[in-house]
Order: sequence, then structure tokens, then C-alpha cells
Amino acid sequence: MSDIRSFVDTIFDELVSIRRDIHAHPELGMHEVRTSALIRSELEKMGVDEIRQPLPTAVVALIHGKKGPGKCVALRADIDALPVHEETGLPFASETEGIMHACGHDGHTATLLAAARILKSMENDFAGEVRFFFQQAEEIGQGARQFVAAGLLEGVDRIYGQHVTNTLNVGQVGIVAGPLNASCDFFRIDVKGKGAHVSMPHKGVDALYVASQIVVAVQSIVARSTDPMESAVVGIGKAWAGTQYNIVAEEAVLEGTVRTFLPEVREATNRRLTDIVEKTAEMLGANASIVIKNYSNPLINDADATKEAKLVAQEIVGAENIVTDYPKSMMAEDFADYLPHCKGTFVYFGTHSNKPGTDRPNHNGYFDIDEEGLLVACNMFVRYALYALGTK
Ligand code: NI
Repeated sequence: MSDIRSFVDTIFDELVSIRRDIHAHPELGMHEVRTSALIRSELEKMGVDEIRQPLPTAVVALIHGKKGPGKCVALRADIDALPVHEETGLPFASETEGIMHACGHDGHTATLLAAARILKSMENDFAGEVRFFFQQAEEIGQGARQFVAAGLLEGVDRIYGQHVTNTLNVGQVGIVAGPLNASCDFFRIDVKGKGAHVSMPHKGVDALYVASQIVVAVQSIVARSTDPMESAVVGIGKAWAGTQYNIVAEEAVLEGTVRTFLPEVREATNRRLTDIVEKTAEMLGANASIVIKNYSNPLINDADATKEAKLVAQEIVGAENIVTDYPKSMMAEDFADYLPHCKGTFVYFGTHSNKPGTDRPNHNGYFDIDEEGLLVACNMFVRYALYALGTK
């Protein structure tokens, strides 16, 4: 297997050109039409055993090892972009106004294509099956659960995914067992009051005032109702109300998110949120309703799969470059939705260097990656798959 690294090196230019092509043509979740067509055509060129499109913009490829039946490992890349205006000025910057690959999913996709090409060329050397998940709609928390619902995890023994991060240098990987990313629930609160002229507030019920009290009151959930040893976020990012400066607002809407790691904290937070919304409105003479949508489960890496990833990473980057205390984050990642169904792990690989833009955080208009980091990721995909299939 010692020739994998040199093989990855030889296809690096192609990996980079595919990444830049995808970067220039970003598409939002559930709209990855060009991206999925590009993935399909690259897979057809490689001659993989089977290509499926289980959902309109998702692509799944299968490669069967020629040594016979065996285990099944799934490798996953997310393929969607973000509603962010690109500011990098790069020659391959987004050609679509207001949409950008600001989370590195262009790199994930190109890397998984490169890994498929390598594993196809090695098909005589292993037994079992590799499934390549080119998953749509990660950023809106929909894609992974659609893959699960489509039965694509059936028969899968291990699933492996990874993400770029500019918090680590090229050559470093963050591998952590247990909780890594938080759950994500979206909520929308509708407050109904009664309109009146602002000069006669007693004739109306001010939905804007009630919504403001709700914004303040829900902060007590983390401060006063959550075990201080546990983590939770209740954030409201959007609010609108009223129609005119001199009319008591009849309606107000708030949108926000709840993030937690533990199911019991998640349930208690959402219950308390609902209570506070309804009772605050009632106390002030208004009506309020709340809708909570489950966008993503917490991401909890399996201990066995994580240990395997560490062994694989040791061979690629050396034990000294494995960051085992990579910090947990309240950001969500929908890879989490695979993990209740199958043993798997999610790894962060470094893309930071001296190159401009690689010090920027994800979801920022100046975000860029050092593409050398993708070499490590490609090696990890290939070697993890071979390891999980029992081929050293
Ligand atoms: Ni991402």
C-alpha cells in the first residue's frame, strides 16, 4: 500500500482543477444540478461499478473489490454551497452572485472523486464494497437524513466523513471520539397582538413589545434552567414586527436556533422555550405559537471507528499531527444523522497555511483553503476504506 501517497500526488492537479471548477459554480442545497452532473460524468469516466441518483441532486457510486464479498464501507462528501457573497477575488471565484463554496464542500467533493479513482484502480486488491456518498443539502440539514430514508446505509459496516478546517495547519488532522458537534433545532415564534394607533396603546396589544419580552426571557433557559456543567445555546437571529412607526404592531415573528449535545438537555430546552413563549404572551394579553424543527442530531463519533481513523492517520501524518483535543463546537453537521444507524467517525483536516484566505473561518466571504490539505484528506479516504474492509 506504500504507493498510495505517490498515486494521490500524481492526480493532485486534476483534483485541484475539479475543486476549482466546482468552486466557480456553487449551488445551494437541493439545487446541486450542475455539481451532481459533473460528479456523475467524472464517475462514468472512471468506470465505477454502479452509479445511482437516489435523489435528484445526490449521487452514490459503488465499487466492489475483486477479491470477493466482504464488508461495506461508506465514504461521504457534502456537495452544496452557501448564500454568501464571495470576496476572495480568486481567478476561480464564484460566478454566481450571492452563492459561494465558503465551507469547503468543493474540496470535499473533488477529494472523494479522487479517492474513488484510486480505489477503482485498486479493486483487485480488496474484498467487499465501497459506497461513495456525494450528499446534497448539508448546509440546510436535510441531505443525510434523506440518504438514511432512501436505505443507503443498509449493509454499511462503517461510515467515514471529513471536513476542512482553517483552525488546523495543512498536515494536521483532528480526530475525537464522542460528542463533536451540537444538535440543531430551528424555531419560529409567531406573536399575535392587536393593532391600534400608538397614541392609544391601551386599545391594542403590542406584539412587538411581547416579542421583545420573549427575546429577553428565553435567555433565562441557559442562564437559569440548564445544568452549568452541560452546554446549550438559545439564539434568536431574526425578528420582524409591525407595519408603521405609528401603529401598534399586530404581529411579530422571531426565528432562532437551539443547540445542545445531550438528548435530555435538548428536550428540556425546547420544552422550556415553548413554555416561556406561550406564558409570556398570555401574561401580556397576546397569543404566541412556536414551531420547532429538528435540523440535525448531535454528532457523536463512534469509539471503534474513531480508533481506526487514528491508526490510519498515524501512517499518513504521524501521531504528532493528530489533534485529539480538537474542540467541540455548537455548529451543526448533518453527518450526525448517519451515526445512530451505523458505526462511523467524522474527522477535521487542516487547510491553514501562509496562503491568503486560509486564516478565515468557514461561512466567511474571504474563506479559502490551502489545497495541499486535500492530499491528506484523499489519503485518509482511501486508507480508511481499505482498513475498514480488512485490507492493510
Ligand atoms: Ni461544511
